[in-house]
Amino acid sequence: MLLPKVQGHKLGRMVTPALTSRCHSSIKHDNSSGNVEIHWDSGSLSRVPYEFLRDNCQCPSCFNEFATQSVTLLPDVLKDSEQGIKDARVLDDQIVLQWNSGHLSKFKIDWLRERVYTRRGRDIVRDFKCNLWGSEHKLKFFDFKRFLENDGYLFEWMKVLVTEGINVLKDAPRKPDQLSLLANRASGFLYSTMYGSIFTVKEKPNASNLAYTSGYLALHTDQPYYEYQPGIQYLHCITGSPKGQGVNQLVDGWKVATDLRAEHPKAFEILTTLKFLYEQRGNEMFGKFILLNDQSPIGVNQFGEIDRVSYNYPSRAASMHLSAQEMKDLYQAAGIFHKMMYDSKYMIEYQLEEGDILCFHNMRILHGRTPYDATTSQRWLEGAYTSWDNLHARMRAIEEELNNSSQ
Ligand SMILES: [Fe+2]
Ligand SMILES: [Zn+2]
Repeated sequence: MLLPKVQGHKLGRMVTPALTSRCHSSIKHDNSSGNVEIHWDSGSLSRVPYEFLRDNCQCPSCFNEFATQSVTLLPDVLKDSEQGIKDARVLDDQIVLQWNSGHLSKFKIDWLRERVYTRRGRDIVRDFKCNLWGSEHKLKFFDFKRFLENDGYLFEWMKVLVTEGINVLKDAPRKPDQLSLLANRASGFLYSTMYGSIFTVKEKPNASNLAYTSGYLALHTDQPYYEYQPGIQYLHCITGSPKGQGVNQLVDGWKVATDLRAEHPKAFEILTTLKFLYEQRGNEMFGKFILLNDQSPIGVNQFGEIDRVSYNYPSRAASMHLSAQEMKDLYQAAGIFHKMMYDSKYMIEYQLEEGDILCFHNMRILHGRTPYDATTSQRWLEGAYTSWDNLHARMRAIEEELNNSSQ
């Protein structure tokens, strides 16, 4: 963030003649405001609180470089910050602070520059811009074998998943358990639900979930009956269905929600505040279960950005958990959202081919499926979930490694 240059001097300011480094950054400290002003070589100015600088001291007694964790205690940080700075200067590529307490802190200029005043903190993953899409969207395809072998290729796959919320891995072996390989490569582990860590999607008699029937599946996101909903979903097609049957319908829920916000602000507000109660009963490998959780159909983060769609109409619970008026409002608003998501300008269709793994953001991409004839088709998919936290964690590390190796 660029801040305007400050004119004049405040009373009590202790100005150390700025020593210019070879990268031309300079600093001043001010014990009255408790900030260090850094004039970057780019011409911009940052004001950095003493508390932040003392807390992030990189010296061996404050920072464990093996654990990459700070061992300073907050009371000491506050005490040293209160006592102030005796001398601050730029030496070569470092900023050196002599605290009145006697402590000496050194920071690499580039290290500090990367860390001050970013809106969300330092995060290459969240810096990628999200590309919302409609029916014009062309799915991106990646080769499964190359994905397993090449880090640069893996990173590109991750980037598309983050920005577009969906992609397809092609030519995975047509046999079970490929999703474990995928997760090992991309996100560490699979997230287990009551349906297991890898669930089989096949037509079953008296199925405990509509996904296990051959009928039409309405647009939905998975597992809103969990408080912690899975972030990413993988669907591996081991045996496909006849052409034109069991076709996946896919909609960017964040795009629909964004348009809903502009066109129907009242409905948007209701869908971000009132919650559907979702319920799912079943009897799977862990025995009988009753999942129950309430979720607003749309979630908004601290910056006002849409960051979640949780919509699974078949799993709504028959329970009057809202007042009559609230429930009426929720039904009406959900009706507008539902109608919008089925507008042809939002939907793409894709029929999974054998060996495909459809990868998508489970709280963004609404997915459904056209019916198929189970008497002639042996359609067999495996599905699994994984967490964004772990995929992001791998992605940051891979980006750092790719960067280091290209230098
Ligand atoms: Fe689903
Ligand atoms: Zn220190």
